[in-house]
This record gives sequence, C-alpha cells and structure tokens, in this order.
Amino acid sequence: MAKLLSSPQIEKIVAKKKSGEKITMIAAYDYPFALLADRADADIILVGDSLANVVLGLEKTKDVTMDEMIHHAKAVRRAVKDALVVGDMPFESYQNDGKTAVLSAQRFIKEAGCDAVKMEWSDRCPLLTREIRAAGIPVMGHVGLTPQTAEQLGGLKVQGKDADSARRIIQNALELEAFGCFSMVLECVPAPLAKMITKKLSIPTIGIGAGVYCDGQVLVLHDILGLSTGKNPKFVKQYAHLYDQVLSAITNFREDVQTSRFPDAEHSYSMSPEELQKLTTHNED
Ligand code: KIV
Repeated sequence: MAKLLSSPQIEKIVAKKKSGEKITMIAAYDYPFALLADRADADIILVGDSLANVVLGLEKTKDVTMDEMIHHAKAVRRAVKDALVVGDMPFESYQNDGKTAVLSAQRFIKEAGCDAVKMEWSDRCPLLTREIRAAGIPVMGHVGLTPQTAEQLGGLKVQGKDADSARRIIQNALELEAFGCFSMVLECVPAPLAKMITKKLSIPTIGIGAGVYCDGQVLVLHDILGLSTGKNPKFVKQYAHLYDQVLSAITNFREDVQTSRFPDAEHSYSMSPEELQKLTTHNED
C-alpha cells in the first residue's frame, strides 16, 4: 500500500478501521445542511456530484459542471469545522488526462478549501490517483456502481453480482489502494462482496447500498431527511419525512397571506401613538 498523505482528520478516519469504530459520511451541498451534518458529528461531508439531481434538478450526475461543484463546495467549507470535506470530481474534470485531473483537484483544495477529492473508477484512475497525490491532495476512490458511467454498466444497477464482475471490482479496489487512495466508496454491490473488499483493503471502505460489513456508510442528506422526490433506491433509509412537513408549512404560509392572518401584531413593528400623530399631522399640512 502506498504511504497515505497525512492529515490528523485522515489519520483519525483510517484509525477507525483498525478500532472497528464505524465511519459516517454524508453527502451535503450547502451551508445550513453541512452545518447540521458537522454538528451531528459526521466524520466526512462529501460535496457529491449528486448535487446535479438532488439540488440542481438536472437529470444525471454527469450534467453538473466543475464551476457548480466549486460554488457549492465553498458553501459547505464555510459551514464545516470538524468533519473532513471531500469534493467529488465531476464528469470530464479528470478522466481524459492527468494535467486536467490535477488542475481540477487543485481547484477543490485551493478555491473551495476542501480537504480531499473523490474520483469514480475508470481504467485511468490508478494513475490519476498517483498524479493527484503527487500534487499533495488526498484521494478517495469509488468502485462498484459509478453513476457517471452508468450507461456502460447497464444503468443504475447493482454491480458485481456474478463472480467475474465481482473479481474485477475487487481488483479495481486493490489497485486504487496500491496507488494511494486513503479510503474507498463501494456503491451498490452485494453485501458479501463488500465484506470481502473490506477485509482485503487496509484503507476504510464506505458503503452505499453495499451492506453492513463496510467500515462506514454514506447517504445523501436529502434522502436521510425524506426531502427527495421520486422513488428512493432500496438502500435508502429515511430518518425523517421533511417533504410533507415542508409542503405543509409553505401551504400554511400561503393560506395565511391570502387571508391576511399573516403578518399579525406579533410579527409587525409598531410606532408610538405620539409619533404617529405627528406624522399624520405633518402629512396633512
Ligand atoms: O455524489 C454522491 O452523492 C456520491 C455518493 C453516492 C457516494 O458519490
């Protein structure tokens, strides 16, 4: 295994694998939600490229641009005091050549203040990982289902269900570790495969739809909160149902405005009768 780029936060996260303490990662994209995730003691806040569909209303994660990612990563950085902030390298910001990959990773660190970057697997990723690390930037890997290249994988489907494809995913994870990733996302793979990968790697695995044996788990904050629209994947567990609550709050506000119940005296500013009198008199002159 390549020597890990050291920072106290990364060391703490890697040490959790050895101690068996589970790692929590949350995908969040803005100041208020990143602040809450940090206050709730999440280890890692990922500014995921899921920003595309979760927040920007785009169809695919591929549709988000580097500038949009940086804009949101900056907001997250302003909110987070303790957690590791990881910027997710968007489609076409790294796949084509090492120079572009390093420049994109540097933007996440220098412009947005992130602590590390994440890249989805492609054949070039091991070498790109080495180049980005050589620029002093820690890299998180991502294998299994890689949404940026989902078309080539038969869609947003569980990966590694047969022995051959499972072996390939194990190989990819081992290669990324050897080239210097400090942790690895395992997305949508069978739990027994994630268990094997977790045993083989000395860096932590962080699962999403990859079962309980990973060293940590990641979910999109909007999914945890029940704020997402549409059908959730099987692996999502909602811990609140904010969609209904937010809809009802906004509906109540609209009804109060229409019926002049809002603003009432409690939410309005008053003026002393004397001043009001002076004003009225003055205005009548
Ligand atoms: O963008 C994202 O939210 C992710 C997680 C699914 C790991 O990459």
